[in-house]
Amino acid sequence: DTLAHPNAYARASETAQHVLSKLPDTLQKPKVAIVCGSGLGGLADTIEAGPKVELPYETIPNFPQSTVQGHAGKFIFGVIGEQKMPVALLVGRAHFYEGHTMDLVTFATRVCKVLGVETIIVTNAAGGLNENYRVGDIVCLNDHLNLAGFVGIHPLRGPNIEEFGVRFPPMSDAYDLDLRRRVHKAWVKLGLDQQKRRIHEGVYAFLAGPSYETRAECRMLRMLGADVVGMSTVPEIVVARHAGIRVLAFSLVTNMAVLEPGARGNDSIIQAMNKSELDQYLGKGKANHEEVLEAGREAAKDMQALVKQILSDLHED
Ligand code: ADE
Repeated sequence: DTLAHPNAYARASETAQHVLSKLPDTLQKPKVAIVCGSGLGGLADTIEAGPKVELPYETIPNFPQSTVQGHAGKFIFGVIGEQKMPVALLVGRAHFYEGHTMDLVTFATRVCKVLGVETIIVTNAAGGLNENYRVGDIVCLNDHLNLAGFVGIHPLRGPNIEEFGVRFPPMSDAYDLDLRRRVHKAWVKLGLDQQKRRIHEGVYAFLAGPSYETRAECRMLRMLGADVVGMSTVPEIVVARHAGIRVLAFSLVTNMAVLEPGARGNDSIIQAMNKSELDQYLGKGKANHEEVLEAGREAAKDMQALVKQILSDLHED
């Protein structure tokens, strides 16, 4: 079922207690949590030498067990930056397409809330729909289309968990403006190579997956105003906003979605192509999991630097 667990608060508290029992005093109060998307686990390297605790998901009570290749699951607690800011990193996440309920997909977010996290930075690998984007670009999300939510696949469906938030939480300003401003400031400060990678602000469309979009679906999503498309992030953000956590989210563009129509039996252009022209035409931009992981590996370092710079900026306040 897709219903929220009626005891979600008690279960998240139980898990938080377990986690706290494993942490030294210096790591007990992370104010920031960072969710690392596919291939973005390298963010864990930004953790400084010093106190550090790694808890594999399979050792944490009530936690979903992740199943996808390249999505190793562990909760890491450590400190980041010269200021030694305590942070919680979620390396690997549960996706709805794996068969988890929305309740489990968003469970870690709720554990973060109980731990006292005030700001969550969510990252993901996504397909680019905006024609101005290129593979390797970073998109700071400024809004989303919760398409799965439209059809009832929604993490807040079911009795409202009052301990976390209200029945009808607003989502109109889910992506914190102050944090987004800091992103642009941090980007300029880092002076990253603009030829290699650019930063944009855009709208993320959430699909349940696991199949990638058809060409017609890509065109539809673009018409609806989406700049990137992916299979994660939005459930966590909805639950975070419900619980009053500030949200910052990034997509790494790992492939460009195909907007051109594919072969249609009655299309004279397609009919005129020879086999190799047709193979090239149809192969262009087809999303595959390997490509997604590869782009992630290359861009992870810049994304890491960006997140670290933002954290340092946050700490200065
Ligand atoms: N994740 C990475 N690329 C994607 C795409 N094109 N569609 C959905 N999820 C994705």
